[in-house]
Amino acid sequence: MSQATNQSWGGRFSEPTDAFVARFTASVNFDQRLARQDIQGSIAHATMLARVGVLTDDERDAIINGLSEIQGEIERGEFNWSVPLEDVHMNIEARLTEKIGITGKKLHTGRSRNDQVATDIRLFMRDEIDVIEVELTRLREGMIELADREAETIMPGFTHLQTAQPVTFGHHLLAWQEMLARDHERLLDCRKRVNVMPLGAAALAGTTYPIDRHVTAELLGFDRPSENSLDAVSDRDFAIEFTSFASILLMHLSRMSEELVLWTSAQFNFIDLPDRFCTGSSIMPQKKNPDVPELVRGKTGRVYGHLMALLTLMKSQPLAYNKDNQEDKEPLFDAVDTVRDCLKAFADMVPAIEPKKASMYEAARRGFSTATDLADYLVRKGVAFRDAHEIVGQSVAYGLKTEKDLSEMSLDELKQFSATIEQDVFEVLTLEGSVAARNHIGGTAPNQVRAAAQRAREALSALKVSA
Ligand code: ARG
Repeated sequence: MSQATNQSWGGRFSEPTDAFVARFTASVNFDQRLARQDIQGSIAHATMLARVGVLTDDERDAIINGLSEIQGEIERGEFNWSVPLEDVHMNIEARLTEKIGITGKKLHTGRSRNDQVATDIRLFMRDEIDVIEVELTRLREGMIELADREAETIMPGFTHLQTAQPVTFGHHLLAWQEMLARDHERLLDCRKRVNVMPLGAAALAGTTYPIDRHVTAELLGFDRPSENSLDAVSDRDFAIEFTSFASILLMHLSRMSEELVLWTSAQFNFIDLPDRFCTGSSIMPQKKNPDVPELVRGKTGRVYGHLMALLTLMKSQPLAYNKDNQEDKEPLFDAVDTVRDCLKAFADMVPAIEPKKASMYEAARRGFSTATDLADYLVRKGVAFRDAHEIVGQSVAYGLKTEKDLSEMSLDELKQFSATIEQDVFEVLTLEGSVAARNHIGGTAPNQVRAAAQRAREALSALKVSA
C-alpha cells in the first residue's frame, strides 16, 4: 500500500490520494474541536463492547487508558494533528494504535465514522447548550432585578418611534425579558432532540455485532438511542434547530442593542453605559461609542447566515450520510461561540445600565404622552370615543402652538375644548397618574411591574428545578 494512502481505508485503492484532494476533504483543522467528545464516545463504546463480550476486559482497559492519555496530550497541546489522517476520529484512532498496538484497531468494531461524528456533535452541542443556558439565565436574572428596581421610573413608550404613552422603564425591561423567556424555552426544547444517541447506527444500516445501544446511551447520558439507523447518521435537524434558536435570540439581542444605541445618544439621552462597555474615537476626542451593543447587533447577521448555510446544506440530501455533512461543523461552532459571547456581553452589561431618570421623564412629558388618558377621561364622563379623540386632537394642536404639555394647561384653557373637563382631569394628565392607571396584568403600573418581576423570577427558578 502506498505511503500516501490513508491507512484506515486505503485497502482497495490503487493510487494515493491527490495531495490537494487530501487537504480539500480533510476536516481535522476544525473538527479537532470535537476531540473531547470523540474520546468520551469511544470510551463508552469500548465499555459497551466489553460488556457484550466483543472486547475482553483487558482490551477495554488498554483502550480506555490509551484514550485518557491521548486526552492529556491534546489538553497539553502536545498532540500532533495530521491532515493526511483526515479528521479528528482517525487522528485519535491512529494515535491509539501507535500507543497500544493492535488492540487500538479493535475500537472501531461495530461503528462507523458516520455514527461516530453524529454522536460527537450531539455531545458537543449538549455541552455548549448547557453553557449557553447559564449565560442566558444570568442575563434574565439581571434584567428582572433591574426591572424591579426601575418599576417606577417613567419614560416615553413608543410606537413608530414616536412618543406614544408613558411607560415605566421596568416595564420596558420586562418586555425584553419576555423575549428571552421564549428563547430559553426554545433552547431547552432543542436540547431534547439533541440528546438522542446515533451511535450504533454504524455506517447506515446498523451492525452485525451484538451491541447494546441502551448501555452506550446510558453511559453517555443520552435520553435514548435513536430509532432508525438511516435517520441517525443523516439527521442534522438539531443543528438547524439550534441555529434557529440562535437566530431568534440574536434578533432579540439586536433589537435591545438598537435601543441601547439610541438611548445612549445625546438626542435621546436616556441611559449611560459604563465606560468599560464603550470605546472612544481616535479622531474625535468627545466620543464615547456603545461598541458592545453595536457589535452584538452586527453579529446577528453571521448567525442568520449559519442558519441559512445549514438549511441549504441539508436541502435535497439523499439518505443516508453524505460528505456534505462535514460542512455542518464550522457554522455550528461559530453560532455557538457567537451566542455565548453575545449573551455574556449582555449579562455583564445589562445590570450596569444607568438610567437617566430626569431625562426620560422630561421626554415623556414633552410628547403629549397623556393624550390617550385625556380621551379616556372624556369617555368616562360620557363623551363618545370618536368625539373625545377629536377634542384631544384640538388640545394637542393648541399645545403645539403654545408649547405647553396637556398637564401644563390651565383648567380654563382645557375647557375651551370641552366643557366636561373638570379639575379632576389633572390626576390623569400627570405621567404618574397615567402609568398607575394601567393597573392590570401585563400593564405598566409600577405595582404590576413589581408583580410581573416576581412572577418572572419564579418562572425562571422553576425552569432550573425541572432542568
Ligand atoms: N469528517 C467527517 C464528517 O465530518 C466524518 C465522517 C466521515 N465519514 C465518511 N464516510 N467519510 O462528517
